Amino acid sequence: MTITIKTLEEMKKRGEKVALLTAYDYPTAVLEDKMGVEIIVVGDSFGMTVMGQDSTLFVTMNEMLVSARAVRQGVKNAMVIADMPYMSFQPSNSLAIKNAGRFIQEAGADGVKIEGMPKRAKAIVSVGVPVMGHIGLLPQSIKKLGEYKVQGKTEQDAERIIEQAKELDEAGVFSIIAESIPGELTKRIKESVQVPIYGIGAGPDCDGQILVVNDLLGLYSTFAPKFVKKYANLTPIIEKAFEDYIKEVKEGKFPDDAHSYH
Ligand code: KIV
Repeated sequence: MTITIKTLEEMKKRGEKVALLTAYDYPTAVLEDKMGVEIIVVGDSFGMTVMGQDSTLFVTMNEMLVSARAVRQGVKNAMVIADMPYMSFQPSNSLAIKNAGRFIQEAGADGVKIEGMPKRAKAIVSVGVPVMGHIGLLPQSIKKLGEYKVQGKTEQDAERIIEQAKELDEAGVFSIIAESIPGELTKRIKESVQVPIYGIGAGPDCDGQILVVNDLLGLYSTFAPKFVKKYANLTPIIEKAFEDYIKEVKEGKFPDDAHSYH
C-alpha cells in the first residue's frame, strides 16, 4: 500500500505507530520498503554514516540529491522524505523553495525535512511541497550547541521547543521529528499540536519512531547516543567475510572451478 499523508493521518487517529528509518542507498531502501517501513528519510546523517565526517555540516545538495535518487529507485510503497542539508534552506525562503523543488523534481522525493525554522517550512508548504519539521536537538546547529546533548531539560527550553512545534504545526507541516528530548516533554508537545510527532530519543509516547539505519544494523560506532538500539551487529559479519575473501585470494583458493568460466 502506498503511504500518503492521508495514510499517516488515519494511522494517528487509530493510534497506530509509524515505523521510520533513514536510508542512503538503493539496496537498503529496497529492504526497508519490502519489510514495511512507512517513511524513509534520506537523512543528512549521510555526512557522518556514509561520508565519515564528524557532523552533518559538510553535506551538499548534490550529494543529497544522488542519495535521494538512489533511495527513490528502491521504494515502491514507503514515503521518501529528503533531508535538506545545511545552508540549502536557511538563507532565504526563495532558496528553500528552489532546493525543496529540486528534491521533488530531480530525485522524486515525496517531501522534504528541515530543522527548525517554521517560516521556511511555511514557504515550502506554500508551493505544495510536503514538509516534515524537526525540533529538539538540531544537528545542523552543532556549532551553536557545542555538543550533541538532550534538549528541553529546563522549563524555559521546554517552552521554547513547544512553541516551535506549534509554529511548525501552524505552518502546515505534515509531521514533526522530535530528537533527544525528555519523554515528559514529548507528551506536552503532543497535547499542543495536531500533527504526528515521530521520535528519535524522545521516549515511547511518540506517534512513531525513527532510527539511523547504520546505528540499528551495528554499522556505525563513532557516536552512539543512549537512544540507539542495535537490532543487529553486522560489523563482525562483514569483517569475517572480508577476512575469508582475503585469505582465499592469498591462498589461491578463490576463484575455484565453480566461479570460473571454461
Ligand atoms: O539526518 C538524519 O538522519 C535525521 C534523522 C533524525 C531523521 O535527521
